Amino acid sequence: MSPVPPSSESVSHTTHRRHRPHPVPIPQPVFGQPVFNEGVASPDPTHLLIPHPSDSALYQKLGHTLQTNTVSFPASRAAVGEVYPLATAYGARGPSTVQAIQHQGKIIFHAVGDTGASSGNGYSEEIHVADQLTADVFQSKPADRPSFLFHLGDIVYNFSESKYYYDQIYEPFRNYPLPILAIPGNHDSFIIPGTPPEEIPLTIFSHNFCAQQPEITMEAAGLHRTAMTQPGVYFTLDAPFVRVIGLFSNSLEDPGVLSSEGGKWPNVPDVQLDYLRAQLQRVRDEHYAGAVLIAVHHPPFSYTPPGGTASAAAHGGSTAMLRQIDTICQAVGVYPHAFLSGHAHNYQRYTRTVTLGGKTRQVPFVVCGSGGHHINPVVHAIQGQPSPEPAFGTNTTYLEVNPAVQSSGLILEKYQDTNFGYLRVAVDSTQLRIAFHLLDGTGLQQSEFDVVTVDLATSTLVAN
Ligand SMILES: [Fe+2]
Repeated sequence: MSPVPPSSESVSHTTHRRHRPHPVPIPQPVFGQPVFNEGVASPDPTHLLIPHPSDSALYQKLGHTLQTNTVSFPASRAAVGEVYPLATAYGARGPSTVQAIQHQGKIIFHAVGDTGASSGNGYSEEIHVADQLTADVFQSKPADRPSFLFHLGDIVYNFSESKYYYDQIYEPFRNYPLPILAIPGNHDSFIIPGTPPEEIPLTIFSHNFCAQQPEITMEAAGLHRTAMTQPGVYFTLDAPFVRVIGLFSNSLEDPGVLSSEGGKWPNVPDVQLDYLRAQLQRVRDEHYAGAVLIAVHHPPFSYTPPGGTASAAAHGGSTAMLRQIDTICQAVGVYPHAFLSGHAHNYQRYTRTVTLGGKTRQVPFVVCGSGGHHINPVVHAIQGQPSPEPAFGTNTTYLEVNPAVQSSGLILEKYQDTNFGYLRVAVDSTQLRIAFHLLDGTGLQQSEFDVVTVDLATSTLVAN
């Protein structure tokens, strides 16, 4: 957004910021309902208010625990078959907002992962992404205006510290005028050994995204954005024309983990498996006609060269996690129209051809971890020698390892690994359209780098 002179209000917000424990009650919004933006543009910050020391030494020390220390988490407040209505996220404006979307005949929303900035060096990138998302809302024609942001995880680096929430989510998105819903990523959940109970990352996340009431938290200081009221770290957003089933893929750098996997991760409860099953059964039993998406931070598929292994920075796919999802889909007889993920810091779009119940579907698996933290190439140099980059349309069926559904191919349709961006998802009564927008565009049309459209009735791709 264009900078404007700071108001005394915006200055006071930053100076009133507090860390836990907070002895003074936070002033709540005068409207007593979700407001989400301040209504007055503020200057872009140029640095983190709290200097963020490098965590490199800590990462070295944590070593293999980043690959082995999963976390437990509480069951959702909602029953397994319940959904979280978009209207609830809007508070008092919920019914009229949902009515307007239904009247419009389509819904549009943003999705992106990995927006946080772990140092002042990368902060401008996060600000650029947040600003373009904000500008997108304000500049869109009413019929094309997004209705919410679904964050795909890794919101506050490096370990979801309460003191960094203001810098990494509340301040950058202070004028983003829509609800922000989120699934936690590994950086929002990994517990450094010895962390005091009140500073457990998921506790901080839940305080800000899974609150009982839409109150202003101490992390937001005086900003008007209220805490989101998701029923848990996994939940299903039920919006007009679309349901997004958000799953928590736990705290490891790799892979994504949904459950105990039969005792392999003993502290991880199995509640999400029952939850996913119940949600898909509900879709089936209701003959739900809208789009069904699964959002999960760790991508089921992420590029690895044939015969190669993903570098730690590149992040490979999560085969066991996908097998669990596929197994439940197979048993229920419902397959989502698309998957959305983050984690890998780039954009990748795959088409997976899946046959379920005698029906062959083309399912986009979209990775959008380009939200501002940094960008990683999909291939890395090996011993100083550049690795060949895959062409658009490369057959990556080798990434399918022992699939639990009948799969007949996986194509890496397109990717973008040099610039930041975000998704604009549009759904009407017949189609789901997922577009990846780059930051270097001028205007929405020019910034659209890639798009895929799915026919909802057939679950097949539509030529664009
Ligand atoms: Fe991640």
